[in-house]
Amino acid sequence: MRTVAPERFRAVMGHFATGVTVVTATSANGPVGMTANAVCSLSLDPLLLLVCFDNGARTLPVVAEGERFGVNVLAKGQEPLARLFASKAPEDQKFAEVPHSVHDGIPVIEGVLAWVGCTLQELIPGGDHTIGIGTVTAAEAGTGEPLIWYRGGYG
Ligand SMILES: Cc1cc2nc3c(=O)[nH]c(=O)nc-3n(C[C@H](O)[C@H](O)[C@H](O)COP(=O)(O)O)c2cc1C
Repeated sequence: MRTVAPERFRAVMGHFATGVTVVTATSANGPVGMTANAVCSLSLDPLLLLVCFDNGARTLPVVAEGERFGVNVLAKGQEPLARLFASKAPEDQKFAEVPHSVHDGIPVIEGVLAWVGCTLQELIPGGDHTIGIGTVTAAEAGTGEPLIWYRGGYG
């Protein structure tokens, strides 16, 4: 029996402040990416990370196909990137004006606070989302302050 409306669940969970990431992968047409905050470190032994993909996210089939993905942790001031990668702009155009490098097939956005590279290990159904579990193959961090997502807004 449903006792909580989805909008209420979303609003309540919005009180859980998170960072903001862009999950990236490489398609046949080049780099793709989507803004994501449902990201979590999962295990230290072995090193695992998880990302929850909306089943409608175009990045999901790219990750499923290429079996490589990156998690780019956005820094304060990178809100325009968060908005761009949260949009439904043509997949192959999101990166058109975004300076980045590619590490073992994983697009890494210039100026991010940190990034983690993963090889996809498992995709697990989770309602209208799919949980992607990756083995961590690279992890780098810089210095600076994070971009934050709280109650439906950036801060
Ligand atoms: C702050 C924020 C966090 C988001 N977190 C997620 C997430 O964890 N998983 C997800 O699938 N979509 C998330 N989204 C929505 C996607 O960014 C959005 O659906 C995007 O258009 C997907 O791009 P794609 O279709 O090119 O993959 C988030 C959006 C915002 C603004």
